[in-house]
Amino acid sequence: MTQPPYVIDEMISAKTIAARIEDLAKEIETAFAGTEKLVVVGLLRGSFVFIADLVRELDLNVEVDFLEASSYGDAMESSREVRILKDLRGEINGRDVLVVEDIVDTGFTLHHVVGLLRSRKPKRLETIALLDKPSRREVDIKATWTGFQIPDEFVVGYGIDYAQRNRNLPFIGKVRFT
Ligand code: PRP
Repeated sequence: MTQPPYVIDEMISAKTIAARIEDLAKEIETAFAGTEKLVVVGLLRGSFVFIADLVRELDLNVEVDFLEASSYGDAMESSREVRILKDLRGEINGRDVLVVEDIVDTGFTLHHVVGLLRSRKPKRLETIALLDKPSRREVDIKATWTGFQIPDEFVVGYGIDYAQRNRNLPFIGKVRFT
């Protein structure tokens, strides 16, 4: 599929993201103080940059695992059907778990994943999303921690794609069609 021409305007700089992650990491350390090991679960593909930066700020014992869920494919509109394309490698029964999401939009993805992982009886499960678009919510869910609340703009970068492009931008940008 060919995309119409567009430009990307910076919305949240790499520096601002880094500073926010430092603060979030402190809150997570406090919340999980004393944990034997925290299983940090990144939702692929969008969270790969965020989880990499977040775990390097965490002064805790962490295990990193990934789960791939997809509801958009290359489309701009959620299919509202969340498919698990890759499950966790490890067990989370009785463990402390932090689910890392890049963006909560309709909420279908996080809601589905939290339901799935809670059914495996973790000791404690919390969630973190770098971005939150509350105005788009269709399912009642909110991450435990949120980096930035943003308006209903089409964003890319820092792991987030437009038709699989622009995930490698170091900042969050707003797509503007030209
Ligand atoms: C995107 C994004 C979130 C989800 C948020 O994933 O990474 O996981 O959509 O949308 P929602 O709140 O409306 O469910 P996508 O399905 O595009 O897969 P990707 O992470 O591989 O890009």
